[in-house]
Amino acid sequence: MSLENYRINSLDEYRESQQYAIKNPEEFWKDIANTFEWKTPFDNVLNYNWNDVPSTEWFKGGKLNITENCLDRHVKENPDKLALIWEPNEPGDKSVNYSYKELLEAVCKFANGLKNQGISKGDRVCIYLPMVPELTIAVLACARIGAIHTVVFAGFSSAALAARIQDSGSKCLITADGAFRGDKTVPLKDIADDALKSCDTIKKCIVLQRTFESISWSNRIDVWWHDFVDGLSTNCTPEIMDSEDVLFILYTSGSTGKPKGMVHTCGGYMVYTAYSFMNVFQTAPEDIFWCTADIGWITGHSYMVYGPLACGATTLHFEGVPSYPKWDRFWEICEKHKVNQFYTAPTAIRALAKHPTTHVTNHDLSSLKTLGSVGEPINEEAWKWYHTHVGKNKLPIVDTWWQTETGGILISNLSGVTPHKPTYATLPLPGIQAALVNDKGVPQMEKQAEGILTVNYPWPSIARTIWQDHDRYQEVYFSAFPGRYFPGDGALRDEDGNYRITGRVDDVVIVSGHNLGTAPIENIINEHPEVVESAVVGYPHDLKGNALIAYIILYQNTENTENLIKEIRQLISDTIGPIAKPDRIVVVSGLPKTRSGKIMRRILRKLASYEFDQLGDVSTLLNPEIVEEIKTTLIN
Ligand code: WTA
Repeated sequence: MSLENYRINSLDEYRESQQYAIKNPEEFWKDIANTFEWKTPFDNVLNYNWNDVPSTEWFKGGKLNITENCLDRHVKENPDKLALIWEPNEPGDKSVNYSYKELLEAVCKFANGLKNQGISKGDRVCIYLPMVPELTIAVLACARIGAIHTVVFAGFSSAALAARIQDSGSKCLITADGAFRGDKTVPLKDIADDALKSCDTIKKCIVLQRTFESISWSNRIDVWWHDFVDGLSTNCTPEIMDSEDVLFILYTSGSTGKPKGMVHTCGGYMVYTAYSFMNVFQTAPEDIFWCTADIGWITGHSYMVYGPLACGATTLHFEGVPSYPKWDRFWEICEKHKVNQFYTAPTAIRALAKHPTTHVTNHDLSSLKTLGSVGEPINEEAWKWYHTHVGKNKLPIVDTWWQTETGGILISNLSGVTPHKPTYATLPLPGIQAALVNDKGVPQMEKQAEGILTVNYPWPSIARTIWQDHDRYQEVYFSAFPGRYFPGDGALRDEDGNYRITGRVDDVVIVSGHNLGTAPIENIINEHPEVVESAVVGYPHDLKGNALIAYIILYQNTENTENLIKEIRQLISDTIGPIAKPDRIVVVSGLPKTRSGKIMRRILRKLASYEFDQLGDVSTLLNPEIVEEIKTTLIN
């Protein structure tokens, strides 16, 4: 049987699969997993324990290499099929195509280079590259030889890069001289050099030539990508991996200062990303699938690289930004490449909707069959704009809810198969046992309900741990409601069982689709010598979904607050990256606190969104008078 046999074609088939998967989860996933190529079949479908120290193992004993499933398998059947279309930043520059055969050869070549460098199974390789084909090639080359890749988004600062290299203990860094982003260039190599000052595990830095700008160079550690692969063989025997061997680490923010290295393993991740890709997006063999994310995020890993390639699909990658050279770039690319599925984030949709619709209508978008959304709740206005102007009132929109931790989409309608509903992610995929609980962990059994979202049963692509911190993994995801996975999101459910995600219930704020822990930002602000204390919270923002506001207390009134605020913004930008800069920084003389000294963030959020009538009873605060003072500051 092939994976195609598990494609869901109707609402009834969806219901059947869902019921079957709930009753016979192991049978369900065993059959799907068996459509892939295993060197040795697995003995056990699932071993898990979510009650004590959480552990989840899928397809244990099964041996495989994910790149054989993503590349070699398709090369045997259809070597010339397009695997990857790459659209560069500059619209005049030619796009680049890779057939499955060409991609496999490029991957093998680079994999051989890594091997020559002494990189082997289990070693960590950090990848800090712009959205160029070499990023995908580097990722797959690591997987080919069993090295663990950890991709760091090229918008992160040197300190953020260094923290990830140190935590993962990476041996090798892959970067570029620079990156093009719209009309700007980003000096990636300079940033990497700065990071490497505090990373002694890195033995080699492989540098791709992209912007051709001059960079500093160390003969000891640096090597050009083109020299690195020169003359190497285009064959590379894949490393045989256990299903539960680590495939990659991807860092995400949490509510403490330290990023969480989410660990994904080979077998389960492959099975689930492919299954969910096929069913959510409903791609046909000749379709062109375009996800506008960056491979630095989980969306890029799962639905730009592994999911589509495991299904033998054609995936389009774009180096640039939606606004360059004009706000019609996305639609120009859709028309040029006859894109069939277009998957983006609400923050992009809201930004696009601010510009004249002629940017959309000037392009022939008749190839589009499916639109997708990911990363944060999509508000009704943005949904309608997307549906009306891009979808011409007829295309299905898949609103896909998932996380770095879940590896793949858990809740979404299936394009054209199960109905969409504006602002609802709708139904859990087959095999996903979603539930709502109240804050005491009591399941909300009525169909129509509101509460905290949990998942009650393992699915193959759940992150297995936090790199070198299993205690934190247990604490963050399994301690709130023992026996259930706790994603940190709130949700409501309608009478048909559709889920609507309402947002985070912890101290993570989703800004422009990026999740940012507020604690790390506070820690950075507090490092400024003039700052006594700070509190960072999110508040609703038209374009970004949420924006950040920082309330800061200073040691003494300085003359030049403007300058100080500039310095703080710079500090955040240098330490985490520009995405974490608060929209507003306000100086206050105190923060609303409970009698036990806890900052009342709820009040700070309400204040930031000017919902002064919804502050609730502030009289129980330690310092109720501060609320009035902050109000006055915000109004002025
Ligand atoms: C939010 C991105 C509402 C949610 C794949 C989740 C969403 C966090 C949706 C994970 C959606 C993602 N509707 N909220 N369709 N998709 N989120 O790890 O709060 O970058 O917990 O993974 O984004 O973000 P992450």
